[in-house]
Amino acid sequence: MSVIRSAVTGVGSYLPEQIVTNADLAEFVDTSDEWIQERTGIKQRHRARDDEPTSDLAVEAARRALAAAGKSAEDVDLIVVATTTPDMTFPACASIVQRKLGVPVCPAFDVQAVCSGFVYAMSVADGFVARGLSKCALVIGAEEMTRLMDWTDRTTCVLFGDGAGAVVLEPREGQGTSADQGLLGFTLRCDGSKTDLLYVDGGPATTGTVGHLRMLGNQVFRHAVVNIAEAITSCCDAAGVEVSDIDWFVPHQANQRIIKGVGERLGLDENKIILTVETHANTSAASIPLALDVGVKDGRIKKGDLVLLEAMGGGLTWGACAFRF
Ligand code: ACO
Repeated sequence: MSVIRSAVTGVGSYLPEQIVTNADLAEFVDTSDEWIQERTGIKQRHRARDDEPTSDLAVEAARRALAAAGKSAEDVDLIVVATTTPDMTFPACASIVQRKLGVPVCPAFDVQAVCSGFVYAMSVADGFVARGLSKCALVIGAEEMTRLMDWTDRTTCVLFGDGAGAVVLEPREGQGTSADQGLLGFTLRCDGSKTDLLYVDGGPATTGTVGHLRMLGNQVFRHAVVNIAEAITSCCDAAGVEVSDIDWFVPHQANQRIIKGVGERLGLDENKIILTVETHANTSAASIPLALDVGVKDGRIKKGDLVLLEAMGGGLTWGACAFRF
């Protein structure tokens, strides 16, 4: 049976120039390089300049993804930006990205599912591409998590960084099997009863301020391994593949110990996991496309490979997405 699949035809990413090491943080908060590396695997993170909003990071990542796909801004007919740190409360970051890139009038909007945002955004964009409503979709994860930090709270401020990643999705005809190029299956979940484990203590309709990120890290950790492992198996079922068929796992990069825990639970080969948490830290919705770009650029992820993306974040939200590159 002939079907239309959303194929990833280009990947790009962008990291702000400034690098902040663990030692830099230890100068003003009671922490150490040793503690951060041992508990998280993080060595450094990137931080945007004061005059460099999230949309700037998104635009650069999008330009690189379009170049990789051999497309130009005029070809784009859908923009979905996964972000929890937009430039402004409104308009959407996607509207600003559209203007800065010079994309013609088309649907453009943000998706807010915190660290799971990119997985959610891929499924939303797939709804357009696979129904023939988009021929060239930009799906972007872009974040400036450092704007949400309480720099006196050592339990959170050492964990996050800024960055952006993007993919271009284009329709490709498939046979309705897992051998098709393109998106094969998704799992999306949210458990709103656990909003108090991870949230920002501000917003336009409460405090009227942006607020700071608050997290009960060890409780989030406990849910993470179980939830992510379940999402991966459920996504593989939806895609009609076995977990052992996956060539590359591209996890949300929150903590090396979570990624390792999921790997052990499912018996994954650690050589098939793309890890960037060491140098990028947790960039929320940007972390998956940033890691995907690293895997594609260094030649590990090749055309035809089966790739699985997974994430968990505030909400709590979590999910996974499988595609053949
Ligand atoms: N430096 C030094 N000591 C610290 C630091 C720090 N930066 N932070 C906490 N500590 C101390 C604590 O105060 C505590 O001390 P105590 O034992 O004297 O009370 C001790 O270290 C242990 O603290 P825990 O919170 O139990 O440490 P844990 O091993 O759980 O690691 C961490 C904390 C890294 C936050 C971990 O719980 C984690 O990664 N959680 C999940 C994060 C996550 O996945 N979030 C989801 C995505 S984020 C999003 O959606 C926006």
